[in-house]
Amino acid sequence: MENKFAYIEKFKRYGFGMFVHFGIYSVIGQGEWALNILNVDSQKYEKTAYRFNPVKDWAKKLVKQAKKTGCKYITLTTRHHDGFSLFDTKGLSDYDTMHTIGRDLVREFVDACREQDIVPFFYHTLIDWHNKDYPTNFERYLEYLRKSVEVLCSQYGEIGGFWFDGSWDNKDADWKFDALYKMIRSYQPQTMIVNNTGMSARGEISHEEIDSVTFERGNPFKVKGSDKPIAGEMCQTLNDHWGYTKLDMNYKSPVELISNLADCRWHNCNFLMNVGLKGNGIIRDIDNAVFNMVGEWIKINKNFIYNAVKADITAEGAKILTDGKVYYAVIDKVDMVANPNVQLAENEKKYFTVNAKVKDIRWLDNGKRLNKTAKGYYVDTFLYGRSQGVRVAKFTIE
Ligand code: GLC
Repeated sequence: MENKFAYIEKFKRYGFGMFVHFGIYSVIGQGEWALNILNVDSQKYEKTAYRFNPVKDWAKKLVKQAKKTGCKYITLTTRHHDGFSLFDTKGLSDYDTMHTIGRDLVREFVDACREQDIVPFFYHTLIDWHNKDYPTNFERYLEYLRKSVEVLCSQYGEIGGFWFDGSWDNKDADWKFDALYKMIRSYQPQTMIVNNTGMSARGEISHEEIDSVTFERGNPFKVKGSDKPIAGEMCQTLNDHWGYTKLDMNYKSPVELISNLADCRWHNCNFLMNVGLKGNGIIRDIDNAVFNMVGEWIKINKNFIYNAVKADITAEGAKILTDGKVYYAVIDKVDMVANPNVQLAENEKKYFTVNAKVKDIRWLDNGKRLNKTAKGYYVDTFLYGRSQGVRVAKFTIE
């Protein structure tokens, strides 16, 4: 029998994606909420739109970086809360990149994705700070919203998914999601429909058409099965902002992000790691470096990132995943050991036990066998010259 939810299963195997925040706010460099929170003058903001003109090959470079890091898909902000569209709205609005710079940036993005075998996803805002109807004539605004999404559904070929955001701004309103989702399905029956429930309602299934729940910035859990195999996705920032923020120095470490990724996979969720592009469409050096490091870790440990799911067998001190044949034990917070001259503190010895008959257990990063002790498997620390935080062992069971 044909599995009508095969597209959801496919999405779950993507495992890791890149989130891209890109818009007028990228030129200003103070986060995507600058217009609202910092009370930037709206006329000045609208004028800035004309300076939002990325370099010619921005999309190619972006997709190349995602591919190199091991991302299978990219979710791009086609329109964010400021109401400005990165696509040709086909006359629905003059507040788009066609009218300012004569370019359809969404088209450039989709073309680059197709060339490099990355699946394009579209983020689209629900809130709109620009459209006059949003606060005054909500019905008319919703019509405009649906028509805008219809353009995205009909002009760019098959899209991996649609990612909506902002209904938390007005929870009591009737957003007419039935009509929106029905329209999407009529063009794209196999697309993922996602609607971010924000940090206050992580993991909530807000509508029967939803294909994946969201865990904005943390705490994923395994989504309860139903007739529909609903997926989960956690999105995460590299620093404190989604949009490019020049003076944000509060970066997470690569190891922290790797730990997020591993945790997501254990909960059968995808990890969507964000980058806020600079106004010229280029990724900031530090963001590139973080992506590269996470990519290095994935190269070593990729076997379980794309194919494994949480295993039925349990363990103490490790998270167990399986691809059906092979099992993986993921251990967090593994130290590096050297000698007192270069090491700050004595390391705590770590062990883990697996509640199954384990055969042939080896570290994925160096192929070395693990030692079994009375306390369980000893977690070999990283030796001087390598420090990766999260370590994975591979094993089979009798
Ligand atoms: C929040 C923010 C929004 C951002 C989104 C990403 O909803 O308000 O700016 O795009 O998170 O998940």
